[in-house]
Amino acid sequence: MLTGKNILLGICGGIAAYKTPHLVRLLKKSGANVQVVATKSALKFVSELSLATVSRAPVLGDMFSEDSPGEGDRTLHITLGEWADAFVIAPATANTIARLSAGLCDDMLSVCFITLRPEKPVLVVPAMDGYMYESPSVRRNLSVLATQGCSILEPESGDLASGQCGLGRMPEPETIVETLADMLEPAPESLLKGKKVLITAGPTREKIDDVRFLSNYSSGKMGFAIAAAAARRGAIVRLVTGPVSLNTPAGVERIDVESAMEMMEASRRFFDDCDLFIGAAAVADYRPEQPVEGKLKKSGAAMDIRLVRNPDILAEFSAGRKQGQISVGFALETAGGIGYAREKLENKKLDLVAFNVYDRSTSGFEVDTNVLTLLDRAGNVSELPLLSKDAAAGRLLDAIEPLLYR
Ligand code: C5P
Repeated sequence: MLTGKNILLGICGGIAAYKTPHLVRLLKKSGANVQVVATKSALKFVSELSLATVSRAPVLGDMFSEDSPGEGDRTLHITLGEWADAFVIAPATANTIARLSAGLCDDMLSVCFITLRPEKPVLVVPAMDGYMYESPSVRRNLSVLATQGCSILEPESGDLASGQCGLGRMPEPETIVETLADMLEPAPESLLKGKKVLITAGPTREKIDDVRFLSNYSSGKMGFAIAAAAARRGAIVRLVTGPVSLNTPAGVERIDVESAMEMMEASRRFFDDCDLFIGAAAVADYRPEQPVEGKLKKSGAAMDIRLVRNPDILAEFSAGRKQGQISVGFALETAGGIGYAREKLENKKLDLVAFNVYDRSTSGFEVDTNVLTLLDRAGNVSELPLLSKDAAAGRLLDAIEPLLYR
């Protein structure tokens, strides 16, 4: 699976480090060349001799120690960044995750993280006690890494070294190797090439009067990331967006609108002519029935604003679509779970729905990361890890592509 690939394996000081000689063995068996970079504390949990023996290379750690195997090569940290086809950090501890997210360079592992060439994939495999993993600091630092393009392989639930049972176990080395192999697989020519894709993005603004509106916190980042990814795959992309402060992705035709009604009108113009419609906009469900001209005057009394329903752009597209046209929507929920997403798939007659929970820090509006679960009509459910919105957009398109030619 990994024939000839150069894998830099960063090991940190957590109990799961005891599984890393096995991980090295599996990587070697898959055909990879492995260079281990261990933190000082990693070598308290696993022996340097074991790692050097199975990887058939000296273990690197301290940048300046006298007996460091890399001592002869003062620029080893730079050359390793070029040499590596991928960097796997397993187990990744809370401390190293914090150091990497802050850009510190105080040992070989953290320097290699910085010198790794930007296009090379990084797989971070956190393993720690469940409470540590759920702490706001760890969540924030992981989301910084995901935003930088790192893939985070979420820990599994089970018995922990702390004696507790819960989230935090490092996935088995077999799972880590499979995940890495997927990441390194060369991208086939995209089925989206030449396809016409219509995407809605951002919030809508519903006028109360000439100076006030109802809206939501949508930043448009997810929809823009999808538009950029689809354009990179050779699709002809039209992006109908509500008010956002984002640059138009290269090669994308952008149509700016304000209200849901305007978004509907603009989208309708392209319905017939698209192969794929992706509703990523957070369209306001209601609008003030009668926006006031000028500025509404305040008085001492309470104010009633009567709201009426906006049309559902996605549902209208799905209802009227021709054979072969694909319809994809999002289901953002603050609670309630996947059941709502399944209902949306049915009610709006979608081919695929991307479900995400709004948790303010890693998923949902405004943030740069997302945790999506993709559900399609065939009943396939794919739970994606915490990813940057760019990476999540790529995975969403990966799931959509096979539907295009069905
Ligand atoms: O029903 P709900 O608003 O949760 O559905 C979300 C999905 O439907 C998103 O894909 C959104 O872009 C789309 N939608 C739409 N027009 C609306 C409301 C939602 O296209 N009026």
